[in-house]
Amino acid sequence: MEAFSKAMNESDSRDIQERMEWLRSEIARHERLYRVNNAPEISDQAFDKLVRELADLEQDYPLFAHADSPTRKVGDDRSAGFLTVAHREPMQSLDNTYSRDELFQFDQRLRRLLDREALDYRVEPKIDGLAISLTYEDGVFIRAVTRGNGVEGDDVTANVRTIAAVPERLKGKDLPEQIEIRGEVYMGNEEFLRINAEREQAGKALYRNPRNLASGTLKLLDTAEVARRKLEIALYGIGHLQGAAFERQSDVHAALERWGLPVPSNAWSVTGIEATWEAIEALDELRATLPYPTDGAVIKLEDRAAQARAGSTSKAPRWAISYKFAAEQKETRLNTITIQVGRTGALTPVAELEPVLVAGSIVSRATLHNEDEIRRKDIREGDWVIIEKAGEVIPAVVRVLTDKRPPDSRAFDFAKRLETLGYEAERIEGQSAWRLKASDNPQRLQRQMEHFAGRQAMDIDGLGSEIIRQLIDRGLIRDLPDLYHLTQEQLLALDKFAEKSAANLAEAIEASRERDLWRLLHGLGIPHVGAQSAKDLARAFPDLDALAAAEASSLQAVDGIGPIMAESIHGWFEDEANQARLEALRKELRLKLPQPDSAAGDSDGPFAGKTLVVTGSLENFSRDEAKAAIEAAGGKVTGSVSSKTDFVVVGDSPGSKLAKAEKLGIQILDEAAFQAALEDKGKA
Ligand code: IVH
Repeated sequence: MEAFSKAMNESDSRDIQERMEWLRSEIARHERLYRVNNAPEISDQAFDKLVRELADLEQDYPLFAHADSPTRKVGDDRSAGFLTVAHREPMQSLDNTYSRDELFQFDQRLRRLLDREALDYRVEPKIDGLAISLTYEDGVFIRAVTRGNGVEGDDVTANVRTIAAVPERLKGKDLPEQIEIRGEVYMGNEEFLRINAEREQAGKALYRNPRNLASGTLKLLDTAEVARRKLEIALYGIGHLQGAAFERQSDVHAALERWGLPVPSNAWSVTGIEATWEAIEALDELRATLPYPTDGAVIKLEDRAAQARAGSTSKAPRWAISYKFAAEQKETRLNTITIQVGRTGALTPVAELEPVLVAGSIVSRATLHNEDEIRRKDIREGDWVIIEKAGEVIPAVVRVLTDKRPPDSRAFDFAKRLETLGYEAERIEGQSAWRLKASDNPQRLQRQMEHFAGRQAMDIDGLGSEIIRQLIDRGLIRDLPDLYHLTQEQLLALDKFAEKSAANLAEAIEASRERDLWRLLHGLGIPHVGAQSAKDLARAFPDLDALAAAEASSLQAVDGIGPIMAESIHGWFEDEANQARLEALRKELRLKLPQPDSAAGDSDGPFAGKTLVVTGSLENFSRDEAKAAIEAAGGKVTGSVSSKTDFVVVGDSPGSKLAKAEKLGIQILDEAAFQAALEDKGKA
C-alpha cells in the first residue's frame, strides 16, 4: 500500500473508499457469476487478487471496512427451488495462497501459536468441484446439503442419491450416532469432455469447465437428468460429530474409507513444512494424470486437538490452507490485435492467436483488456507470447517472449490503430478504457440491441444476434427506437425468415411496448446499472422525468445504489444524445410504472404482493422463466416454504416442499392453475 499516503487528504480518502466499494461490488458480482450462474468471467487467480486487494485495504484503512465484507464471509451458492437446511456446524471456506513464502509463514504462525518445533500435516488434493455435507445417522444416509452461505445450504439429497459411490448405509460397527461428512462433488475430466462433445453436436453452448458443469448438474431440478450425467464425490472431513472421536486428520480419512466412502486418492502425511512442500510438488507432478480436476493442494494440521486450539476466523480455519497451483501455460504466436466494440462504446483490444490447446480446449483469442495492459506488457502484433487459462476459464496473455521478437517489430499504438479503423474515440482521464465518441457505430449498436432485447431487459423473443445483424446491415435500424418502426414486410425480407417467424417477431416487438419501467431502465445500458439496480431505481423513481432530473446525491440515497453508479446514472441522463434516444423510445412505449414502494413487477398483476415458492419441474417454464413471470405479475419468489408463503407452484417430482406446504395449509397451484392465474388479469 505504499502508493497511498496514510496522511490522507479528502480526495485520497474518497478514492480509497470508491476503490473499496468497487472491489466489494466486483467481488460480489464475480461470486454470483461463479457460484450461482456457473459462468465465471474471470480466472480464480484474478478473483483471488481482487479479494486480496480489498483485504489489504481493509487492513490499512479499517475505518472504511464493512462488517459484511466478502473478505469476512464465505460466498453463497443457494438457489431458488431447493429447500434450505441449516448445517449443524458451519461450513467454512479456506484461505488460499499462490506463494511458497506465504505457505511457510502459515506454518510459522501455527508453530508459534501451538509452541511446537515441527508440525504434522496432511496434504490432500484440492478437488475443483463444489462443497457438500452428507448427514448420516446411525450409519444411514439422511441428507446432502450444499455449502450455501456456510450456515445453511440447499438440500440436494435426491440429486446426490444418483451418485453411485454414496452408500445408503455405512459399513462397519463403529458408527457415530450422527455425523456431518464433508467433501466435494465433482465431474471427472472424461465425463466433462463427453457431455461437452454431446452438447457441441446438438449445437448447445459448452460448459466452461468441470466445476461449472458439476455445480450446474447438482442444482438441476430434474433428477433423471442428473442421473444421466455422472457426478462423483470424494469425502475429506467432518463437521458435526456425535458418538465418536478422532485424534488425527488421517484417522478421519481412514474411518471414512472403512465406512465405504470414497476419499481423495493420493494424500500425504508429513512432518514439517519442508516435507509438506515436497508433497505439494509431488502432487503438482501428478496433477495432469489425476482423473479429477484439481487446482491446488489442501494442507491440514494433523492433530485435531491442536486444530481446535488454533480455531478459525469468521471465514476460514487457521489450521488449514490451500496452496493453488499456477495455471498451465502455452506458447503461441499473436497474429494481430483487433478492437472489439462494447455496448457502452468501450473499445477492447483482443489478441488473435495462432490456435493452441490449453487446459483442455483450443484457444484462439484472448482479451488484452486495455491500452495500458498492452503497454505494460509491451505486446506487439507478430510476437510470440505465453498464454494461460487460469482456473481453466478466460484465456489471457501472460507475457511476451521478447527473444523471439521479429527484428522489424513495432510497439502497438492503440490511438493510431483506432484512427486507422476510423473510430473517433476518447480516453477519459483516470480511466483505462477508450470509448467511442459517436453512438452510431454499427458494432456498438449491435451490442446495445442485443442487450435491449435480452431476457433481463425488454425481453423480445426471437430478436437474436443474427437478426439484429441483418437489420443493422440493411440500414433498417440506425438506433434503438427504429425497432418500433419495422414493418412485417421488412422482417419477411430477412434471410431465412418465414411468414410465421416474421409475424411472431413483429408480435414480440409489439408486446415489448408495454413492459415494466425497470426493464427499459436496464435495457438502456446505463454503465454499471444491472437488472437488480434497475428494479431498485424504478421502485424509488416511478416517474422517469424525476429520475432523469435527479442529482447524484438523491440517487445515492436509493438502497442498492452506490456513489459510482449514482454518478454514472446522472451522467447518462445529462447526455443529450441519450436524452434524445430516451424521448424517441418513450413515444413508442407504454411503460408500466410501479406504485412507489411496491415490488418492481406489475402492482396490479395477479400475484401482486404475494410470495410464491416453485418446486419440481414445470413443463412450460424453466426456473428462471417461472420466476420472471411471477415477478412480472407483481409477486415475489423465495426458496423455502414458510408461513409467509402464499402459494406453492408444484411441477413434476416436487420433493419435500410440497409436503411442507400441505402441512402449513398453503395454497398449492399445479402448472395449469399457475398458468391460468398468470393469464388472468385479476388477482389470484
Ligand atoms: S477442507 C474447513 N479439503 O475447497 C475446511 N476442502 O476453497 C474445509 N476443497 O470449501 C475444507 N478439496 O469445497 C478441504 N481436500 C480438500 C478439498 C477442499 C476441495 C474445497 C472445499 C472448500 C474449498 C475451499
